[in-house]
Amino acid sequence: MEKKMEAGEYHSKDFDWEFVKNIVENDPSLSHHLHHNPQHDSHKYQQHSQPWQDFHSRHSSGKFFKERRYLLKEFPELVSCEENSKLLEVGCGNGSTVIPILRGSKNITVYACDCSSEALVRTKENIDRSIATVDNFHSFCCDFSSSQFPNWLACNHCRDNFMGKHSGGSKGVDIKYKCSLNEHCIGGVDFVTLVFTLSAVPKERMPRAIKECFAVLKPGGLLLFRDYGLYDMTMLRFEPEKCIGFREYVRSDGTLSYFFCLDTVRRLFTDAGFIEVELENCCVKAVNRRKGKIMYRVWVHGKFQKAF
Ligand SMILES: C[S@@+](CC[C@H](N)C(=O)[O-])C[C@H]1O[C@@H](n2cnc3c(N)ncnc32)[C@H](O)[C@@H]1O
Repeated sequence: MEKKMEAGEYHSKDFDWEFVKNIVENDPSLSHHLHHNPQHDSHKYQQHSQPWQDFHSRHSSGKFFKERRYLLKEFPELVSCEENSKLLEVGCGNGSTVIPILRGSKNITVYACDCSSEALVRTKENIDRSIATVDNFHSFCCDFSSSQFPNWLACNHCRDNFMGKHSGGSKGVDIKYKCSLNEHCIGGVDFVTLVFTLSAVPKERMPRAIKECFAVLKPGGLLLFRDYGLYDMTMLRFEPEKCIGFREYVRSDGTLSYFFCLDTVRRLFTDAGFIEVELENCCVKAVNRRKGKIMYRVWVHGKFQKAF
């Protein structure tokens, strides 16, 4: 099918984003993607976790699993990081992101969460199948758009410390930081990965969700972001009635998908306190060999840092 896709996914300049923008903005049959229709009601999708639970129950065979091999090329700091680094993968799905990280970065302990308990089962099955035993992987259930990450990940003392409330300054916390109050607290993480997860969160909950990621990162820590970009081919396939908000869609199985422009991503992350390190569209021309069709894929790649 899409044979070249995986190798090509980290090449970001097959075409300029303006190329798809021009096509979409000049095609009347696509005009429903351009405007906000106030009649669209995204509020009824507030309970967005159940469709994901159903999704992961339906896809239990492992066939749906595809390792994101390009991730370590996109984010080389995951390979060069210091020993005993900690990473939180938010919305781990079936493990497509955690598995290449566990395989390629021996220095990292990976924590993974998802709002679906079925997803956690899928991830564990795929790890067992792909890498066998690992002792540097831990998972837990959490909807980060409506709840805090657990206290053992970063207790209130650590969260305050990261904001400079206890240390009396902005010197930051180094990588060997340990929580001094709570022996069960791991003391926050050095990396957060948000890979095709934020687009699944209702738009109005995104600011809160990103702030939660910010709160558990150590100062100097990085948030690594990849998600659907505006005018990606999969956006243009949605029928008008699937549009539930501006650039926000619901699939037939009830899961949500938002499509990001760079300005929206920039605003969401900087409003939460992050510093922009990298932010760009990845525009990849993939060929569906079976159908002989060219597919214009647009993803957003971002790297954001919590200040020291
Ligand atoms: C498209 S999958 C991405 C999975 C994975 N990050 C990857 O790289 O393939 C999105 C995942 O986010 C999870 N998810 C959606 N909303 C969430 C939320 N509010 N809190 C935690 N996980 C969420 C879904 O259950 C799903 O497993």
